[in-house]
Amino acid sequence: SRYFALIPAAGVGARIGADIPKQYMQLAGEPMLMHVLDTFAEASAISHVYVVVSADDGYIADLMAAAPHLQGRVTVLFDGGPNRRDSVLNGLQAIREQAGDDDWVLVHDAARPGLTCALIERLIVALRDDAVGGLLALPVVDTLKRSDKNTQDARVAQTVARAELWAAQTPQMFRYGLLVRALTLAAAVTDEASAVEQLGLQPRLVEGSPRNFKVTLPHDVALAEMFLKEE
Ligand code: CTP
Ligand code: MG
Repeated sequence: SRYFALIPAAGVGARIGADIPKQYMQLAGEPMLMHVLDTFAEASAISHVYVVVSADDGYIADLMAAAPHLQGRVTVLFDGGPNRRDSVLNGLQAIREQAGDDDWVLVHDAARPGLTCALIERLIVALRDDAVGGLLALPVVDTLKRSDKNTQDARVAQTVARAELWAAQTPQMFRYGLLVRALTLAAAVTDEASAVEQLGLQPRLVEGSPRNFKVTLPHDVALAEMFLKEE
């Protein structure tokens, strides 16, 4: 079976509040999305890279025109949906002629530019013989509190034991057929693993990296640039 990358990049980046969608913000000299596409394009195990953008995306054409090395390696799908799960599912449906049910799909946020080929390799090696699939994730380091209510005057209801807790990252790697089925049936989910869990399956946790964090808020930009300049 083959390994495909699918990059949801159809968000608007409301929380970072830039004047362009965050995946197109310049980070260490290149658009955020370009870092991600370059990494997957370099990963030798990956057969092809698909990026899902919104139907009215006004930036991807220039990005691809500036990246002749991605031609033939990356295909743009103008199939973004109202939330991340819809963008991923639309993208999967758009490639149904190209992918077999047993092919692996690595779904990765455009907003995680710190991904490396080594992390992709680690995920694939850990999961290639797995019956379910899994995801990169990091053990939680903070002491976690559950609040008694979701308002400003909240108090601690409980301290949650962190020993078993991981923070999910991407890529999340599942077989094409399973992923389509899981996302089609899933109620509200913020990642692919949750959808697979709703089928009663247990995705594997594979250790990710702090540099693979999701750029979400304005102060994340400086940290992302620090990691990208380390390469
Ligand atoms: N995404 C997508 N389609 C959507 C919403 C999000 O493809 N309708 C993608 C984003 O482009 C991003 C990834 O999903 O690569 C993770 O989402 P997030 O970090 O929440 O990005 P945004 O939704 O763009 O940011 P915000 O929630 O702050 O608006
Ligand atoms: Mg979002």
